[in-house]
Amino acid sequence: MKTIIEPFRIKMVEPIKLTTPEEREVALKKAHFNLFQVPAEDVIIDLLTDSGTSAMSAAQWAGIMAGDESYAGARSWFRFQKTLIELTSMPHVLPTHQGRASERILFELMGGRGKVIPSNGHFDTTRANIEHSGAKAIDIPIAEAKQADLKHPFKGNMDTAKLEQIIAEVGKENIPMVMLTITNNTGGGQPVSLANVKAVRTICDKHGIPLFLDACRFAENAYFIKLREAGQGNRSAKEIAQELFALADGATISAKKDGLVNIGGVLLFRNPAWAEQANNLLILTEGFVTYGGLAGRDLEAMAQGFVEVLDEDYLNYRIRSTAYLGDGLSKAGVKIMEPPGGHAIYIDAKAFCPHIPQEQFPGQALVVAMYRHAGIRACEIGSVMFGGPGRPAPALELVRLAIPRRVYTQSHIDYVIEAIVEVFQKRDTLRGLRITHEPAALRHFSAAFEEVG
Ligand code: F0G
Repeated sequence: MKTIIEPFRIKMVEPIKLTTPEEREVALKKAHFNLFQVPAEDVIIDLLTDSGTSAMSAAQWAGIMAGDESYAGARSWFRFQKTLIELTSMPHVLPTHQGRASERILFELMGGRGKVIPSNGHFDTTRANIEHSGAKAIDIPIAEAKQADLKHPFKGNMDTAKLEQIIAEVGKENIPMVMLTITNNTGGGQPVSLANVKAVRTICDKHGIPLFLDACRFAENAYFIKLREAGQGNRSAKEIAQELFALADGATISAKKDGLVNIGGVLLFRNPAWAEQANNLLILTEGFVTYGGLAGRDLEAMAQGFVEVLDEDYLNYRIRSTAYLGDGLSKAGVKIMEPPGGHAIYIDAKAFCPHIPQEQFPGQALVVAMYRHAGIRACEIGSVMFGGPGRPAPALELVRLAIPRRVYTQSHIDYVIEAIVEVFQKRDTLRGLRITHEPAALRHFSAAFEEVG
C-alpha cells in the first residue's frame, strides 16, 4: 500500500473554530500583526510549535488517572526512572518541568566564565542558559547545513575538523562538554548520523571531554538513522536510540517533543558526582528528586510517552507525514529547506517574496499572509527573531511549520498545502512590515508591527 495512514483512531475531539476572513482581519489588527498575540481560539491550524502540543494516547491518559502523588518515592517516579534508565543506560535520572529547566541546572553546574560549549546547533534556550552562566555557546554544523536547498541525509552533523580546531584553540580545560542536538532544531530539524556521534565521541575521549545530548527529538533522529544510514536498516529505532544515549555522558530532554506530553523534562548523567550536585540544584528550584517540577501523573504520562514514541508505525507516519507537507509545497515551486526535517518544514521566505527587502521582514509578511488567507499560524525564524538594534541580519529568512504530534490528519495538511500554494500564487501582493514597538529582549514574542506600502 502506498497510502500511509495515521496509526491511531480518534476517540475524543477538540472542535476547531472556522474563522472567516473578516474575523481574522480583526484578530490580526488587534494583535498588531504578531501571531504570538493572536488567541489560539482564532487559529484554524496551529503550526507554531511541536512542543507541548502532542495529543496523548489512551494509555497516557490512563496514566494520568493512575499517577501516584506521594511526595517522595512515588510509584510513578519509579516507573519513570526505570523507563529512562532502560532507554538511556544512564543511572542518574532527574525529572524537571521542561527542557530549559534541565539546561539551567546543567549549565549552572558545568558552565561559567571562560568556558566554551561547542554544538552542532544550540537551541535558543540552550544558548541563553549557557550565556547566562557566563560561558560561550558555539555552533559548528557541517558546511552543507548552511545551504538551504542542498539535500544531504544528515545535515544535523557536527563539523568534526572544526571541533578539533576549537579544542586546540581554547584548550580542553575550557570545554566542560561538547553537545549534540538531535535532531538539530535551529538547523531545520535535521538528523545527526550515528557515525557522526561516534566520531564526536572519539574526539571527546581523546581529550577527556564529556559528550552531552540535547535529545528532545531522539526518536525522530533514531528513525532517520534507520532509514538513511548504511547498515542500520535492520535495527529497531529503539536499539538505535539506546546506542545514541550509550555514546553520551549525559543528556537534557524536553519531553514536550518526543516524550509525547504537554509538560515535562529530564536531565541525565552517568557521573554520580555531577548527579549529586545537580540534585541539590533540582531541590532548590524544581522540587524533590523523585518528582522535579512535576506531578506524579506527569511522570506516568512521560514514562508511557517515551515508550510509545519508539513505535515504528508511529515514526514512519510521523516522518512521512512531515515530508508529505514538504513535498506538496516543493512540487508547487515553494522553496523549502531540504530535505524535510522530522518535526517541521521550513519555508525560504526570501525566495517566497523576493520583492520584500530583508528590513521589511519577508518571513513575518508570509506568516501574516498565511493567517489572513487560511487561519494558519506559523513561526518566523529570521530577522524578527534574530535581528534588532546592533545585531546583523541573519543569512536566512525562514518560516517554520512545526507539526504537533498525532494532532492533525492528512486533510488538515492538505488544507495547509492548498492554502500556502494559493498564497504563493498571489505572492506579489504580500506586503512588508515595520516594527512600531519592540521590547528590549526576545522581541518576536511581543513586538508590534504595521504593514508598509
Ligand atoms: N532544545 C531543543 C532542541 C528545543 O527545540 C527546545 C524547545 C528546547 C531545548 C527547550 O525545551 O521548551 O521544554 O524548555 N523547543 C521549542 C520549539 C520551544 O518550539 O522548538 P523546553
